[in-house]
Formats: sequence, C-alpha cells, structure tokens
Amino acid sequence: MKAKLLLAVGGLLLMVAGGVALFIYSGVYHVGATKPHSPLAHSILRMAMERSVRHHAKRIEVPHDVDLRDRGYATQFYGHYSAACVTCHSAPGVKADPWMVNYPASPNLTDPAVVNRWSDAELFWIAKHGIKDTAMIALGPTHKDKDIWGVTAIVRQLPGMSPAEYAAMGERFKAMKNAKSGNGQSSEGAAASEAATQPTQEQLEASRLQLEASRLQLEASRKQLEAAGAAQPQSPSPAPQQTPAKDGHDHDH
Ligand code: HEC
Repeated sequence: MKAKLLLAVGGLLLMVAGGVALFIYSGVYHVGATKPHSPLAHSILRMAMERSVRHHAKRIEVPHDVDLRDRGYATQFYGHYSAACVTCHSAPGVKADPWMVNYPASPNLTDPAVVNRWSDAELFWIAKHGIKDTAMIALGPTHKDKDIWGVTAIVRQLPGMSPAEYAAMGERFKAMKNAKSGNGQSSEGAAASEAATQPTQEQLEASRLQLEASRLQLEASRKQLEAAGAAQPQSPSPAPQQTPAKDGHDHDH
C-alpha cells in the first residue's frame, strides 16, 4: 500500500518536472519586457528580492562621518546620480528617459513610498550590488563605497526635494567641479567667463558686418590697383640692384 502511494507521488512529480522542462524548452514562454509576469509570479519574485536585500544589508552600518540627510554632502555626488540613475529613476523635475522600458519597471525614486520602505543600509546595498535579472545596475564593481554612500544620500533625500532644489544642487555641483578643476573660478566667475566666451547674437552680427566691410574695402583696393596697372605702360621690370663689381677689392686704395 505504502509502496504504491510512493510510486504514485513519484510518478506525479516526474510528470510535473517533465511538463515544466517541456514548457521551458518549447519556447512558448514570452520573455519580453513588454509582457508582465502573472500577478502571482510578480509578487513571488518581488518578495524574494525584498527578503534578499534585507537579509544581505543586515550587517551594513552607515559610516560615522556620513550624514545621509545633509544636502551639502549629497551635492558632491550629484554627478553620479545624474549620470547613472536619472535615466531610469527620474529626479525632481527630471523625467526618466521614455525609452527606458524595462520589466520590472524602474520605480520612481522621488516617490516617498518607494524610498522610505528601505533602510539606509538597504539603499546602499541595492546601489552597490544591483538586482539580478532586472535592469538595476551595480555600482560596486566600478565605484568606491564612499561614492556609493554619496549616491545613497541623494536617493534618501530625493522624495523631499523640489525641482528647484534639485536644479540648485546641480548648479552647486558644477561650481564645485569648476573650482576643483583648478581654474580657481567661483560659480560666478565661471558663469562670467562663459558669458565672455559666448558672444551674444548682437556681437556676432556686428563682427559679421565688420568682416563684410573689410571685404568690400579689399575689393575696392584690388580694383584700384588693377586700374592703375592698366593705365601704366608695361614698365620693364625694375633694374636689379647694382652690386659693386667683384674685383677682389671692395674699397679704394
Ligand atoms: C537601466 C535602468 C536602471 C538604472 C540605470 C538604475 N536602476 Fe535602480 N532599479 C531599476 C529597476 C528596474 C529596479 C527595480 C528592480 C526590481 O523591482 O527588482 C530598480 C530598483 C532600484 C531601487 C529599489 C527600489 C525598489 O523598491 O524597487 C533603488 C534604491 C535603486 N534602483 C537605485 C538606483 C540608483 C542609486 C541608481 C544609479 C546608481 C540606479 N538605481 C540605476 C533600474 C535602474
């Protein structure tokens, strides 16, 4: 009796495994990012992701010299977020690129409901390791922890940030970068020199008119010369400079 039951269960399991293998191998499953998982599969995968992040981030501690809520600190790392994350995750006043269609979709990191469910350590872990089989990238292999904490600070602060504040952060970051790159310019200095090297439309038009005037003057001179040349009879080419005859003496005795 017991043996028969075991055989039946074993046979059933084998059939299921065979069915799954056949299903996978047949290729009928749609792997496209344009077709979402069934809600059940989606929630299982999402739970696995959340549990994994929380488990792996357990022992991570925010370094004591890092204040993730400090705007000035976060500003230093604006370049990382604007280059590596905005394209998928948006920022206050900046939309994600419309062609970044992936599944699971990239959550909008300006939404408090998205960011506040994660602890600081968990946000850091996600940015450092990325998430398998999603579009979420890992900064770890190419960035120092110091930079990843900086990006974490930006993510932590995004939900409470206005578009104007995000734009100001960008401006301050650019000014910092200019100052660092050794040209010793403050943001005002940089802006002024930019203005100096960027001629206005009127300046451009004035230069164009000046050039045109010079061109006309040249043209007129060329015509005058031509007219003078035509009026004069063909004069022989100027006599060569008389050089003293070489007699071995260049002075009188
Ligand atoms: C190419 C698109 C893409 C880029 C670039 C990207 N991410 Fe993501 N990110 C994703 C996707 C997709 C998810 C959702 C993964 C999932 O649901 O398992 C995600 C999830 C996250 C989450 C967890 C939010 C949640 O609850 O799902 C955080 C935090 C995050 N990314 C931060 C960042 C940071 C910081 C950067 C820049 C260093 C970045 N991401 C760059 C696509 C991207």
